[in-house]
Amino acid sequence: MKINKICCIGAGYVGGPTMAVIAKKNPNIQVTIVDINSERIDAWNNEDLSKLPIYEPGLSEIVKDTRGKNLFFSTDINKAIDEAEMIFISVNTPTKTYGKGKGMAADLKYVELCARNIAEVATTNKIVVEKSTLPVRTAEAIKSILHNLGTDVNFSVLSNPEFLAEGTAIQDLLNPDRVLIGGQSEDAIESLANIYKSWVNDDKILRTNIWSSELSKLTANAFLAQRVSSINSISELCEHTEANVQEVAKAIGMDSRIGSKFLNASVGFGGSCFQKDILNLVYIARSYNLNEVADYWEQVISMNDYQKRRFADRLIKTLYNTVSGKKIAMLGWAFKKDTNDTRESAAIYVADHLLNEQANISVYDPKVSKEKVIVDLNYLNTRTEKENENAISFTSDPYESFEGAHAIAIMTEWDEFKTFDWNKIYNQMKKPAFIFDGRNLLDKQKMNKIGFEYYSIGQ
Ligand code: NAD
Ligand code: UDX
Repeated sequence: MKINKICCIGAGYVGGPTMAVIAKKNPNIQVTIVDINSERIDAWNNEDLSKLPIYEPGLSEIVKDTRGKNLFFSTDINKAIDEAEMIFISVNTPTKTYGKGKGMAADLKYVELCARNIAEVATTNKIVVEKSTLPVRTAEAIKSILHNLGTDVNFSVLSNPEFLAEGTAIQDLLNPDRVLIGGQSEDAIESLANIYKSWVNDDKILRTNIWSSELSKLTANAFLAQRVSSINSISELCEHTEANVQEVAKAIGMDSRIGSKFLNASVGFGGSCFQKDILNLVYIARSYNLNEVADYWEQVISMNDYQKRRFADRLIKTLYNTVSGKKIAMLGWAFKKDTNDTRESAAIYVADHLLNEQANISVYDPKVSKEKVIVDLNYLNTRTEKENENAISFTSDPYESFEGAHAIAIMTEWDEFKTFDWNKIYNQMKKPAFIFDGRNLLDKQKMNKIGFEYYSIGQ
């Protein structure tokens, strides 16, 4: 099928950047991204490119080049569906918060709504592409909804999971390790492959059956998260044995069978994907009664929860077993650097733990707003909105948060933290001045020389 028009349902962290790159690399294809969230669409259409709803290095430049030419953002979902030959479903698939599978399974209600919307509106043949991360065999449900229409419209369903990481989304999209397309119809697969071939070598475009494609996405995230939990487990052993986790990571990473990436010990992984996707994998395994498989992967999450708790407990213990009434300056709230996304950020859980111990927390993050910090804490339901607002302060000048602080907790590895005037910061703080570096970002020797009591992960 010749593709002239693409519709993408979901203008989020995946839909926005992915479609911007597709539009940039395929100037002859009209790409329309639609969303039910009109505020988000307005933000994508904002004249001021610094106000786009998503911060990703390189994104605003691509939007500037393509928006209004062959890239459009709209709330008119039906029109975009009707006009397009190819429709990407890029909506959120969060962990269920109710009913069967609560806290484990992926909530597919948004995906199902999209399929029903497409089924109702479509008058011409469509290729429907699963871009969202979905449980293996979801395509079956989508096909069933689409094919029970009683019309002559023909639908092909493909799975094309997205492997971009936030903070490097544009680079990941421009130079992907691979593009994965799963499906039954060769014609449909080639129609999608042709779009990627505008900038990706054909030997990097993998064609598989649809179920392998769906399961590969969950598996890739599980393996990546497992590496982080593995090195984090070793970090605690390092702290007891005077081994240094960074030296250990380097030594094992030079083994080409292990590889050097994803071995940075940290306060724990966050982000909207790892936990959600592993919980989903565990849920699927249990649904087939594969309890050993489920237990194995569940341990990756348990280790991560433990690492976040351990970081907060270590801080409290070091501050003479109490943080009540003490000011803790938290550097970073995003789940990693170069993104404004805070979903499942370790900072949220560490802050919650410290607030339970009556700490006063002052947060600085270059890309996250105070409102977001409060929303994240409210979501945990640990205390009232008012209590969260009273216990947390937020500053746009980091040096304000260090004034009179008992300790600094580094939660996100923003590059700018390395360039701060640490001598000045030391003078601003109560003594002894503690740093708990949850990202091994700073130089231990340099910090000790200034006078800080410096604690990092696994050293
Ligand atoms: P997101 O929450 O940022 O964006 C999803 C958007 O879909 C929202 O703006 C929401 O309003 C919209 N939406 C929901 N239902 C809709 C409907 N029926 N019609 C129109 N719009 C609707 O989510 P995201 O981070 O972009 O993730 C989307 C999917 O991609 C998820 O399945 C996720 O697991 C997967 N994924 C995410 C990443 C990532 O780094 N964030 C990477 C790879 C894959
Ligand atoms: C992840 C996958 O990498 C990506 O392929 C998938 O499409 C979506 O999920 P993302 O969550 O955006 O991407 O970021 P990622 O770089 O994987 O980091 C996830 C978390 O792990 C972050 O909190 C990060 O700080 C942490 N991490 C990562 C570590 O603590 N140590 C590491 O060595 C790597």
